[in-house]
Amino acid sequence: MQEEILHRLRPESIAIHYGYLPQLSEGSAIPPVFDSTTYIAKSAQELERKFIHLRSGRKGELVYSRLGQPNTQILEERYAATFYGSTLSEPESLLTCSGMEALALTFDAYLRPGDLVLYNEPLYGGTFGHLKWLEKRYGICLQSFKNADDLAEMNPSDALKLIFLESPTNPTLEEVDIEACAAFAARHTSMRSDNLQTLLVVDNTFMTPYLQQPLSCGAHIEVHSATKYLGGHGDLVAGVIFGNKKYIAPIRALRSQRGGTIDARRVVRLAKSLETLAMRMQRHCANATQVALFLSKHPNVVNLRFLGMLPEHSEQFRIHHKQSCGTSGMISFEVKGGLKATRKFLNKLRMIMLAVSLGATHSLACHPAVTTHSGIPAAERKRMGIPNNLIRLSVGTEHYADIIADIEQALDSA
Ligand SMILES: Cc1ncc(COP(=O)(O)O)c(C=O)c1O
Repeated sequence: MQEEILHRLRPESIAIHYGYLPQLSEGSAIPPVFDSTTYIAKSAQELERKFIHLRSGRKGELVYSRLGQPNTQILEERYAATFYGSTLSEPESLLTCSGMEALALTFDAYLRPGDLVLYNEPLYGGTFGHLKWLEKRYGICLQSFKNADDLAEMNPSDALKLIFLESPTNPTLEEVDIEACAAFAARHTSMRSDNLQTLLVVDNTFMTPYLQQPLSCGAHIEVHSATKYLGGHGDLVAGVIFGNKKYIAPIRALRSQRGGTIDARRVVRLAKSLETLAMRMQRHCANATQVALFLSKHPNVVNLRFLGMLPEHSEQFRIHHKQSCGTSGMISFEVKGGLKATRKFLNKLRMIMLAVSLGATHSLACHPAVTTHSGIPAAERKRMGIPNNLIRLSVGTEHYADIIADIEQALDSA
């Protein structure tokens, strides 16, 4: 029945119907919330059997909610089927209690002291901070790069275990060629003397797998802060990891050990959000296009960055159109007049909320240099292209004319 759904339905329908059997829940049309901590066995022998299955790494057994629970299992299967059901052989997804936990679990599952991680700049400040912590605490070696051409010029040793990417970058919205990075990882794997694999991990938070599918471009693991577009309403914190079964298995085992699981009620809200993801993303993209068009003509705006306005025939344009099918609602720009004018602009906003985070139905404005990226030393921030007057706008799903009117009155008085 579930396999049949996978072959017959399109992703938007799979997102609503896959992975749940009403007959297992008294015929309830939608999955009930399973708040239970633990799950009973019918006999002593069954409980023993469940533990044998658990120890062998088999998923799906219901024993204890840190190890797995029905709402989580339904959504994990639904996510994997929706986005990668027709392209990967054994797609899996894994829910975590936050985006940072998704990232930390992935790093911990695959890295050992002395390993080298290559990462592109700039990264989300929290991720950068965690990598720096891993460097200090566990002797993980770090080396940054800007784009796939930089990688091609490197000749790393077997110490290289993982390449980590955000594309587009946060908050500078620069594209990195995922396919070219995957080709580099594959080449490096083929030259290794230790039979291990060089992994490519992509943080796809800004795009969602609706607009960009890194695993289809050759990445091994895709990580999300589901707090953002996947959650979509600014009412939860969560993370999700995608990958083929063999890459997810060690991360799943570590999640069970460490307890980075997510509670049933948050999972139910995330599942509701998946049902409207396609509609929301279309609206985010359309609204952001209108807002960017307005900003491009405003005299107080400089260095506007929006994926829908990349110069045609540029390398960035080529990469963007090769690996994604939309812009998301993210825009960055600088306010003419420096820090003072930037603060004035932010203080004048009326409808757009002044807050960190992104990807919600409500529009949000954030000031990266002094908030999300304030942990990065000022000189490095400058080098990464994050000046003090940079604004990151997460365009919501309100009427675009109201978003523009709010920005206009704030910019005019900045
Ligand atoms: C690109 C990106 N990755 C990861 C994270 C961390 O996610 P969370 O806040 O859900 O832990 C964030 C948070 O802003 C982010 O923007």
